[in-house]
Amino acid sequence: MSNINLFETVKLGSITLENRTGVAPMTRTSATPEGLATDEMLSYYTKFAHGGFGLIITEGVYSDDKYSQGYLNQPGIINHEQIQAWKKITDSLHQAGSKIFIQLMHAGAISQGNRFVNETIGPSVVQPKGNQMKFYGGDGPFPIPKELSKEDIAEVTRGFAKAAKRAKEAGFDGIEIHGANGYILDQFLTDYTNQRKDEYGGSTENRVRLLVEVSKAVREAVGQEFTVGIRISQGKVNDYFHKWAGREKDAEIIFGNLGQAGLDYIHVTEFEAWQPAFSIGEGTNAPNSSMEDGPTLAALAKKYSRLPVISNGSLHDPEKAKSMIEKGEADVITLGRGALANSDWVNKVKNGEPLAEFDPEQTFTPDAKIKVFEL
Ligand SMILES: Cc1cc2nc3c(=O)[nH]c(=O)nc-3n(C[C@H](O)[C@H](O)[C@H](O)COP(=O)(O)O)c2cc1C
Repeated sequence: MSNINLFETVKLGSITLENRTGVAPMTRTSATPEGLATDEMLSYYTKFAHGGFGLIITEGVYSDDKYSQGYLNQPGIINHEQIQAWKKITDSLHQAGSKIFIQLMHAGAISQGNRFVNETIGPSVVQPKGNQMKFYGGDGPFPIPKELSKEDIAEVTRGFAKAAKRAKEAGFDGIEIHGANGYILDQFLTDYTNQRKDEYGGSTENRVRLLVEVSKAVREAVGQEFTVGIRISQGKVNDYFHKWAGREKDAEIIFGNLGQAGLDYIHVTEFEAWQPAFSIGEGTNAPNSSMEDGPTLAALAKKYSRLPVISNGSLHDPEKAKSMIEKGEADVITLGRGALANSDWVNKVKNGEPLAEFDPEQTFTPDAKIKVFEL
């Protein structure tokens, strides 16, 4: 246990956050059809800064004018107009004393709304699990993706790098590469969506290669003095309970390689951040199997990457959030649903005021009767 407090400052790369609480990236699909940030988004993001959050990470933002867009009305960062639209938001958050990172996202095979192309791409010709998300305007199964050629892979990487440069111009304080939740980088990381026979497929080292290459390319694009991190998860929007087959050995390879990729932090997300990453005795019915044992994904990220770690997953209970920081498993925590229910979560917790419960109806259309962990 350390004496570090949730409300103390912390350094992430070259910037200092006012405190260790952040808003998790959350897709809103409230941009214009051309992907420009709107006034609705300006007030959505600004209210978290007024509510005391030290860091706000944007929703996933598409990175190129090809295959990256995942949802209609998703914002992008691919041209001058989009840079100018974001600038209003970054200025507003800076005035309110917060830092804002942009989450750069390429949807790959699980794109369900793209105004540039009519097909999807993925590491291999494998139909994604599950169905498109109705609350983001999709319906039915995902299409079968085209396999990325070497040139397509290079284009994805260049897309992230160029988008990162534009994000710097738009006034963001950092970049978060979306390597989680089933989107393209996670499709490369995941054994069943990546069946490639080249250097990007097969072993865990090979499957993490593109994440490392994108991290290095982004670093090179923005220079040393700009904060760059990556988000990693086991679960996916279309496969919530996925676990890495190689368990801690996979964690060692994945976080170990990312630790050498020029990044400033790793953001891990699990359903419940404080639970062991891999349950003991899983699949064996061992009499002593227990969910109480074993390291969390955050602890594994820290151990093997040796980088600062942001932890996410059901941490809206302040005691749970504080404990992740005090145990030294995370340097920063982020809230998704807890922040939607309480845009002033930080101020309320500081003042000992009661917190509101998350209400899915506030976030989704009424027919989107999904369990929230199914996100
Ligand atoms: C409405 C909504 C949209 C989300 N969109 C994104 C996203 O764009 N990028 C991302 O990495 N995670 C996204 N997530 C996942 C959240 O960042 C977070 O991991 C999840 O809500 C679990 O955290 P919580 O338990 O604090 O809610 C989204 C979650 C919600 C509720």
